[in-house]
Amino acid sequence: LNRSSFPAGFIFGTASSAYQYEGAANEGGRGPSIWDTLTHQHPEKVQDGSNGDVAVDQYHRYKEDVAIMKYMNTDAYRFSISWSRILPKGKISSGINQEGIKYYNNLINELLANGLEPFVTLFHFDLPQALQDEYSGFYSPNIIKDFEDYSELCFKEFGDRVKYWITLNEPWTYSVGVDKPYLATHYQLLAHAAAVQIYKAKYQVSQKGLIGITLNCGWFLPYSNNTLDIHAAQRALDFALGWFMEPITRGKYPRSMEKYVGSRLPNFSEEQSKQLIGSFDFIGLNYYTSNYAAHLLHPNNDTDPTYWTDQHVNLTTERNGIPIGPRAASSWLYVYPKGIQEILLYITKTYNNPLIYITENGIDEFNDPTLSLEEALIDTFRIDYHYRHLYYVSTAIKDGANVKGYFAWSLLDNFEWFNGYTVRFGINFVDYKDNLKRHQKLSADWFKDFLKKN
Ligand code: GCO
Repeated sequence: LNRSSFPAGFIFGTASSAYQYEGAANEGGRGPSIWDTLTHQHPEKVQDGSNGDVAVDQYHRYKEDVAIMKYMNTDAYRFSISWSRILPKGKISSGINQEGIKYYNNLINELLANGLEPFVTLFHFDLPQALQDEYSGFYSPNIIKDFEDYSELCFKEFGDRVKYWITLNEPWTYSVGVDKPYLATHYQLLAHAAAVQIYKAKYQVSQKGLIGITLNCGWFLPYSNNTLDIHAAQRALDFALGWFMEPITRGKYPRSMEKYVGSRLPNFSEEQSKQLIGSFDFIGLNYYTSNYAAHLLHPNNDTDPTYWTDQHVNLTTERNGIPIGPRAASSWLYVYPKGIQEILLYITKTYNNPLIYITENGIDEFNDPTLSLEEALIDTFRIDYHYRHLYYVSTAIKDGANVKGYFAWSLLDNFEWFNGYTVRFGINFVDYKDNLKRHQKLSADWFKDFLKKN
């Protein structure tokens, strides 16, 4: 297996996000996002009490990082724009930060000068704090217009060079992290659709780019052959993936969600449904792990319903004491490579064979301070992980999935949200004790080899 096992033009890259990488949180005119607020007001919520103030300092080191991408023979780089770096208070009417625009122009130009294609995510969890304060962010319909304006500004400023846009990253993850998940998803979807509509109406023809949305989903294996568990696995898919895919293909939430959530599930107006249907050129898929799904008999769903109890599904990572695969550092991440083939083929057959990019796939190890630098660079488990997943991507393509690219999470070790810097997802090592110096792990050299062009 190597580059030539994939269709001509298949894109290989690495992925990142602004808050996890950039640092320079208080530089260059950037305004605060909800992640600055959370990490500073509640450091106890982050495993090591850390934050993204400095992160891995890509803001200052982007040239060096682009050189690493080039060294690895990758074709593309997925990064996100920090909304509050461009619009410090979230809205155009409150002022555009030219220094922020300049930073992304520099990054984009550096990528292009080195033959790397930018894949740009508009929103990767870091909502401007001002919009959270003003109207509770994604709980309010006000977000739709503000996200549309912000997106349009990005199309205007960068769309002459950026040909792949991703509106939202993992709206599932954002929604299940807040206390009104159904509302948060509703307005994320409508904000997404508004951004796509303006792109298609005003920019796509002249700029000739594509726009999509990145969803995360694992595969769900029925816990047993029991009919109840088989249905539970389908419901788990509906609640994880159908929650987004059904609105953007059919204009409605999945029937199972309507049934199980009832009147607590918001509705789309006819006009909104129309706007949602077909609001993507491609689907970005983030795949890491899979779960068993069993029918859950006695949830406390009458008194205290939640997104989790509504499904009547019990998700587990093991069956009869045997894990679905080896565990990574992150407690939710169990290695199950075949799941990427299953979910790709499921999307292909259920949603009419859309164009798909794997926008994330990766594995972490613990940040172990007792290791020498030399030892810390030995990540053969990561090579194994990518090799196996790439193999199953290639088999899915042979079986008809329209996959055109694969991005590894992640180029570098970085700030892993609630886990802070305690885990390392990087193909390249960041030395947090020595001035954030970058070092290639073995997997960087493996990619370099795998991706070389004859
Ligand atoms: C995402 C992810 C990334 C994580 C990665 C490992 O939403 O794209 O949360 O930001 O770092 O998935 O957990």
